[in-house]
Amino acid sequence: MTEEILYGGDYNPDQWLDRPDVLKEDMGLMKKAGVTVVSLGIFAWSALEPEEGVFTFEWMDRVIEELHGAGVKVFLATPSGARPVWMARNYPEVLRVNASGQRNLFGARHNHCFSSPVYREKTALINKKLAERYGNHPAVILWHISNEYSGDCHCELCQANFRLWLKKRYGTIDALNKAWWNSFWAHTLSDWEEIHSPVPRGEMTVHGLNIDWKRFTTDMTVDFMNHEVRALRESGSDLPVTTNMMAAVETPDRDPGLDYWKFRGVQDMASWDSYPAWHAPGYKAYDFEEKGGPGAEDYRRASEVAFMHDLFRSLHHKPFLLMESTPSKVNWKPLSVNKRPGMNILSSLQAVAHGADSVQYFQWRQGRGSFEKFHGAVVDQSGRDDTAVFREAARLGELLKKARAVAGSAYGSEAALVYNWENRWALEDSQGPVNTPGKGYLEAVRKHYYCLWDRGVPMDIISGEEETLPYKLIVAPMLYMVPKETAKRLEAYVKAGGILVTTYLTGYTDESDLCHEGGAPGPLGGVLGLRVEDLDGFPPHEELSSGLTGASDTADYVEHVHLTSAECLSRFSGYPHDNWPSVCRNRYGRGAAYHLAGRFAVESLGRFYGDNLKAWGVEDAGRLLSDSKGAVNIQVRSSRDGDFLFLMNWSAEPASVELKGSWADRETGKEGRRWDLDGYGSFLLWGKK
Ligand code: GLA
Ligand code: ZN
Repeated sequence: MTEEILYGGDYNPDQWLDRPDVLKEDMGLMKKAGVTVVSLGIFAWSALEPEEGVFTFEWMDRVIEELHGAGVKVFLATPSGARPVWMARNYPEVLRVNASGQRNLFGARHNHCFSSPVYREKTALINKKLAERYGNHPAVILWHISNEYSGDCHCELCQANFRLWLKKRYGTIDALNKAWWNSFWAHTLSDWEEIHSPVPRGEMTVHGLNIDWKRFTTDMTVDFMNHEVRALRESGSDLPVTTNMMAAVETPDRDPGLDYWKFRGVQDMASWDSYPAWHAPGYKAYDFEEKGGPGAEDYRRASEVAFMHDLFRSLHHKPFLLMESTPSKVNWKPLSVNKRPGMNILSSLQAVAHGADSVQYFQWRQGRGSFEKFHGAVVDQSGRDDTAVFREAARLGELLKKARAVAGSAYGSEAALVYNWENRWALEDSQGPVNTPGKGYLEAVRKHYYCLWDRGVPMDIISGEEETLPYKLIVAPMLYMVPKETAKRLEAYVKAGGILVTTYLTGYTDESDLCHEGGAPGPLGGVLGLRVEDLDGFPPHEELSSGLTGASDTADYVEHVHLTSAECLSRFSGYPHDNWPSVCRNRYGRGAAYHLAGRFAVESLGRFYGDNLKAWGVEDAGRLLSDSKGAVNIQVRSSRDGDFLFLMNWSAEPASVELKGSWADRETGKEGRRWDLDGYGSFLLWGKK
C-alpha cells in the first residue's frame, strides 16, 4: 500500500473537540514518536452527525489538514461501530434483540442489527458523505470499515433473513429436515416459518441449526460490510478497505464468532487487533516444558500470536496491518501487566516479521474519562514525552523508518496449518463423541503450530477448503467436519506429492454435521489408509505412551484405528490400548498421509516433526543457524534485493545466536554473525542477495 512500514494508532480527537491546544500538542508529539499514520473517526458518529441529518465535518476537515501538514497518513473509519443516541431513540429497531428475546437499550457499542433497513440507510448515508468529502484527500489512504464486527441479533427481521438464507441453502424444507436430522425428538418441520434462531428458551440442541445460525451470522456481517463498502464506491472512492479483526480465543463466548475466511471477498487486505496477555503469571495453556528462564511463558504466548499474524497474512496472501496493539498495558485483563522494557519493540517487530506492513496502537492518547481512560496509550494523562512508554515508542518509530524497505516484502511458506471456523463450531457444539472441556480444538491447532514455529518453520494458516494447496506439508489437527469436496482436494494434494498430517477426530461428519456413513475418517479413508473403530476419552492421570518419546504422553483422546493400506510407525503402550497404532503413515501417489491417533504431549509432537521435516523437504531455521541459546525465534521476510532476518528473544533471560552468514543490523549498521540479545531483546538484520 505504501513503501514504508506505517506507524501510529487509533486517534480520537473527537474526544477533544473543545481543545485545539491538545490537537496542536498531538502533532508535535506524533512527530517525536515517528508516527506516520492514524486511524481516525472510528467512534465519531455523534461528532459527525450530532442530530439526525445535521452533519458537522468541519472539525474533521481541520484534523485531516493538520495531519496532512505533519506528513501523517489517515486510515479513515466508517463510524458504524457505535451509533449515536438519537438514532436509537428515533429508531429503536437499530438496536439488537438478545437471545432472551429482549430489545437491548442504547448502550456500549457494536449493538446494532445488521438487518435493520434504517441502520443500513443511515450507515450508507454517513459513509457516502465521508467518501465524498475525504475519498480523494491525499492524506487518506485506506478505509477502516466499522470496528471489530461481532455478535448476532435475534429480532424478527433477522429471523426472516435467516429463513431466507436457509431457503437458499436447502431449497426445500424436506432437504433441511434431512440435513438437520429433524426426525430426532420429533423435530420435523413443515414450514419455514417454524424456524427460529437458537436461543436458550427455545432450541439449542440441533447441531445443524446451531452451525447454520453461525454461518448465517457471518454471511449477514459480510453482507453488511459489503453494504458499507458499496456506499463508499458509489461515492467515487476506490481506496482499499479493511476491517479490524480479532484474535481467536479459547473461550467460545469471547471469540468473535465469525468465519473470517468468508471476508476474503469483501476487503482488500487484512488487519487485526492484537492484545496478548504478555508476562501473565501462572499462564499454563497446555503441557509445555518451560523454555528459557523467568518469563518463559512468553515464548509460548509468542507462538500463539505468531499463529494469528500468520492467519491474517494468509487471509489474502499478502502483507497485513497490525491495526491495534497496546504500547504498554490493557485495562480489561484480570491483571494488567505492563509490557516489560523492550517488549513493545519486540512484539511489534514480531508482527512485521510475520508480514505486517504497519504497527499501530490503541490508542495514541488516553481520554480523560469513561471506559478506556486507563488503557495503555503512547501519550498518557501526563501528556509527557519522557515516559518509558513514549521513549520506547519513539525508538521503535526510528527503527521502523530504517526498516522501510521491509514493506511489501514476502513471507515464504512451504508448510500450512488448517484452522477452520466451521469445524471449530461443529466440534465445540457437538455432544460427544467424547467430551473434554471445549474439545480443545484451538489448543490442538496451537500445539502443532508451536512445534513447527519452535523449529523456525514458516507457515501459512489455511481453511483447508482452498482450491489450490501449493505446499509441501499440510497439518490438519482435529479436522472433524470433512465435506466430500475438502476430502477430494486433500487427496489430490497428497497424490501429487504433498505430506498431510491428521489426528484423532478427523473426518467424522460432513458439512451438515451428519456423521459419515461407514464411520470415520469418512471420505479421507482412502488417503489415510485406515478406518477408525472407536474413540476413547482417556483420563489425563492414567498412563499411556504413544511410543514417540517413551514417556506417558497421551490424554483426552485415543482412537482405535485399523489399517487398510497404511503402515504403523508406532504403537500405544498402556492399559487398555496396548498395541493400538498411534502413528500411521499411508504412502499415497507421490505423497504420504500421517495419522496421529491420540492427543500427544507437545514434546512428542515436537519429536514427530523434528524427526520428519528433513525427509519431507521442509526447511526450518536450521539453514541459517550455527547455534542458538535461549528462547529465540527467527523469522525471515524476503525482497528482491535481500532478506530481512528477525531475531526475537521471548524471555527475560539474555540469549545469543550464531548465524551461518554475516548480517547487518538495520538499527545500528553493525555487521556480524554472533548476536547477543538482552531479555526481550530483538534485532532486525539485513542480508543482501
Ligand atoms: C478493541 C477495540 C478498541 C479498544 C481496544 C482496547 O480492540 O477495537 O476500540 O477498545 O479493544 O483494548
Ligand atoms: Zn436484527
